[in-house]
Amino acid sequence: MVLKEIEERFSVRAFADKKIPDEVLKEILEAGRLAPSWVNTQPWHFLVVKSQQNKALLSQVALGQPHVEKADAIIVICGDKSAMDTESFRKILSSRPSITEDRINLLVNNDGFNPSLKGNSALNLRVLEEVTYATAYMTLEAQRHGVGTCVVGFIANALTGAAPEVYQLARKTFNLPESVEIMSLLILGYPDESAEKQPKIRKSFDEVVSYETYGW
Ligand SMILES: Cc1cc2nc3c(=O)[nH]c(=O)nc-3n(C[C@H](O)[C@H](O)[C@H](O)COP(=O)(O)O)c2cc1C
Repeated sequence: MVLKEIEERFSVRAFADKKIPDEVLKEILEAGRLAPSWVNTQPWHFLVVKSQQNKALLSQVALGQPHVEKADAIIVICGDKSAMDTESFRKILSSRPSITEDRINLLVNNDGFNPSLKGNSALNLRVLEEVTYATAYMTLEAQRHGVGTCVVGFIANALTGAAPEVYQLARKTFNLPESVEIMSLLILGYPDESAEKQPKIRKSFDEVVSYETYGW
């Protein structure tokens, strides 16, 4: 059944003048909240923006992409690196039944397990991976309700390094804690049905799938 939503979803960049009901937005957010993550760290926070003033700021964060400001709502996909620090891992692991202190120490001191030991780039990468699951889930739940979405990743943030002054302004305006980065924006709204639809261009099944050995 989810395949239907996957097939029908496309990036919506033209929106109808129709508001997303609060209950629908809540279910979309719930789909993100329930996504899987590395060691169940859930390093995300979904900041909902509906005011025109903040949408205008996010349009600047999106380096002027015109569709951003026109969306009915924007979910600022925030990644919280503190959810993946050693203490957080220790806390999550300690709550697992019958895990030993030795096993916890082994895991939190392994840099393949604990990305914070490898530095900021590894941490950003892992957090980005986690928020991507949540974002994908939200796009599909939105689709189920007929709400269009577009992931906007070409933005001013720590990952791209683009427009640092705009990013700092956004950080200040939204009161982001130091450990939190804006990873992407998910813009939402009912699609403008009169807008031209782009064909879904994808590599063929055989090009992207192989069995037992890589290739075709
Ligand atoms: C991580 C990521 C970042 C993206 N960033 C942008 C963006 O900054 N602006 C935009 O208009 N679309 C953006 N997109 C949408 C892609 O261009 C779009 O998903 C792709 O062209 C396939 O088209 P479809 O979503 O309509 O199937 C992004 C998509 C992903 C997954």
